[in-house]
Amino acid sequence: MTTTPTTASGRQLDQADFRHVMSHLPTGVVAVTGVEPASARPVGLIVSTFASLSLDPPLVAFSIARTSSSWPKIRGGGRFSASVLAEGQDAVCRSLSRKSGEKFADVPWHPSPDGAPRVNGAVAWIDCEPEQELDGGDHVIVVARVLRMSTGPGEPLVFHKGRLGSYRDTVAA
Ligand SMILES: Cc1cc2nc3c(=O)[nH]c(=O)nc-3n(C[C@H](O)[C@H](O)[C@H](O)COP(=O)(O)O)c2cc1C
Repeated sequence: MTTTPTTASGRQLDQADFRHVMSHLPTGVVAVTGVEPASARPVGLIVSTFASLSLDPPLVAFSIARTSSSWPKIRGGGRFSASVLAEGQDAVCRSLSRKSGEKFADVPWHPSPDGAPRVNGAVAWIDCEPEQELDGGDHVIVVARVLRMSTGPGEPLVFHKGRLGSYRDTVAA
């Protein structure tokens, strides 16, 4: 039996309610990036759903909207990178979350050993290989194997209540 979700006042939950409540969970901001095989150009998007999944084997997971045009290109390129954005990298987040245009025009990056773009100045880089995709409603849950990972200095960019900020902002809120 499926239970219809409701708000505290008993009203049927809509998508705005869902977004509002979930926005209270602070998350990191991760650039998932690869190379489109057809054009050999960098492709990428931003996710706030990135999480560690398994230590043995080392797996991560994130969810991707079924409407994403970038993910099929990244997946098609095989190995990709995930860059955990740093405090102050709001502009990188805005560029890579655009639906179209030259997403990488103002995003400095360097290639991973597999050639995937790693965003300069990120606080962590995780090079991955797609392992499987699971059904996640209007999203797919991507499970990826970790090939190598490293960290940089600095604090992470944080997404909280629909705004980009820092860990310090979140603690102060
Ligand atoms: C802070 C933030 C978090 C996001 N998190 C996700 C996410 O977890 N999954 C997702 O599919 N899109 C997420 N998006 C949206 C995508 O980054 C992006 O808007 C969209 O995929 C771009 O379209 P494209 O994939 O067709 O290039 C997020 C955007 C922002 C700004």
